[in-house]
Amino acid sequence: MQPLLLLLAFLLPPGAGTEPSQPRIFQSFLSEEIIGGREVKPHSRPYMAFVRVLATERTWRCGGVLVQRDFVLTAAHCWGRSITVTLGAHNITKQERTQQVIKVKRAIPHPAYNPRMHINDIMLLQLERKAKKTKYVKPLSLPRHKARVKPGQVCSVAGWGQDQQRNLVDTLQEVQLRVQEDEECESRFPKNYIRQTQICAGDPKEKKASFKVRIPASMQLLLFLVALLLPPRTEAENTEINARCFLPGKIIGGREARPHAHPYMAYLQIQTPVLPTTCGGFLVREDFVLTAAHCQGSSITVKLGAHNIRRQERTQQSIGVRRAFRHPGYDPQNNQNDIMLLQLQRRARKTRAVRTLGLPQSQGRLRPGTQCMVAGWGLVSLNRRTEKLQEAQLRVQQDRACSRRFRTYNSQTQICVGSSRERKSVFKGDSGGPLVCNGVGWGIVSYGNDVGTPPAVFTRVSSFIPWIKRTMRRFKQSD
Ligand SMILES: *[C@@H]1O[C@H](CO)[C@@H](O)[C@H](O)[C@H]1NC(C)=O
Repeated sequence: MQPLLLLLAFLLPPGAGTEPSQPRIFQSFLSEEIIGGREVKPHSRPYMAFVRVLATERTWRCGGVLVQRDFVLTAAHCWGRSITVTLGAHNITKQERTQQVIKVKRAIPHPAYNPRMHINDIMLLQLERKAKKTKYVKPLSLPRHKARVKPGQVCSVAGWGQDQQRNLVDTLQEVQLRVQEDEECESRFPKNYIRQTQICAGDPKEKKASFKVRIPASMQLLLFLVALLLPPRTEAENTEINARCFLPGKIIGGREARPHAHPYMAYLQIQTPVLPTTCGGFLVREDFVLTAAHCQGSSITVKLGAHNIRRQERTQQSIGVRRAFRHPGYDPQNNQNDIMLLQLQRRARKTRAVRTLGLPQSQGRLRPGTQCMVAGWGLVSLNRRTEKLQEAQLRVQQDRACSRRFRTYNSQTQICVGSSRERKSVFKGDSGGPLVCNGVGWGIVSYGNDVGTPPAVFTRVSSFIPWIKRTMRRFKQSD
């Protein structure tokens, strides 16, 4: 176990924006935990925004800064289908009278955002209405174009991230960081650090100023801190970096699958209005793939028979989706009925590498302790997508292991999978993939926590057998 320190920041030029009221320099960071942080005096950072994101994979939290009464600046990776911003908060689990909760009308990620490299990881959120300015809610102006912070300057990073025990914290925390010479980061991160657009901060010798994550030896887990460079105009603090913590994910404890050992696996390439995304799925009839409802998009392509999805393997069959049938009861707010059938444009050819997976009987139940298999091309570490299919064995858990952790857990329609004592789970990009127990597709990867620690929640396929049969029957194989 090696602690890894990594700070990446991005400063973007303003593009064409010349209006003085427009933000000019953006900088963002991402990080995992604030070490040696302390609770801030309540409401001493009235520009801090708590951002709740309903993304493709799950709900998560981000931070942001109110830069105008109707605009919040945050990181592009915080994009989701539905975003809500809470302003004026100190303890975000409380309904404080100072809080203003406002929905986001439009999320505008930087057009050159590169999610793989975390380049231009910045996004503006336009609020549905203007925030009311109060003692607790105040916009923060941005620094001048090309303003620089000097090495040695002390900045503060604030957020509702996680503490060292990986518990989400309720109250706003902050930590002081010292800006370092660019060379410090250039030597540590020769491939990643760009001095023109990034800031090197945090003294590696000081434990409190570091952002670290524990890494299993086999895994390369990077970590980032989303932060925003704050203007010199705030009194008392010359320059300030304000950060939000965000936790990246991975398939934990997985291993590469034997090529084509899971011939029912489908790799879904999904177009959405903002960013393309991917999901897993599985072939249940030659012309139908089962996946999660949250994997919806404006257009979906299904790749079957793949092992390395970056290669053009001869076993692969790429087929467009003719119709997507999302379960009518799907509720993105609480992930209920997270199931979707995709009718393919043509029937898949059954081969050694492409085969259907059987489904359980209606209302069948799995006993806790049952050993099952999940597979996916999701993240194996932060930023690192796997090209080759990974698999992991996971055990079915008692329902209470999930109802304790997830308020939305529904034991009638969901399965709780993965022991919290083992570092094995599913994460971003694995969504929609099957949980295979005794050779049958019992579950669909639905959601977990922000960190990717087990258990995770799977859609209980046996609860949806009548809907699956009815839907597929409407379209005979030849249709
Ligand atoms: C935040 O509020 C919740 C709910 O009222 C409370 O249980 C918790 O202790 C508070 N956290 C802190 C750090 O004060």
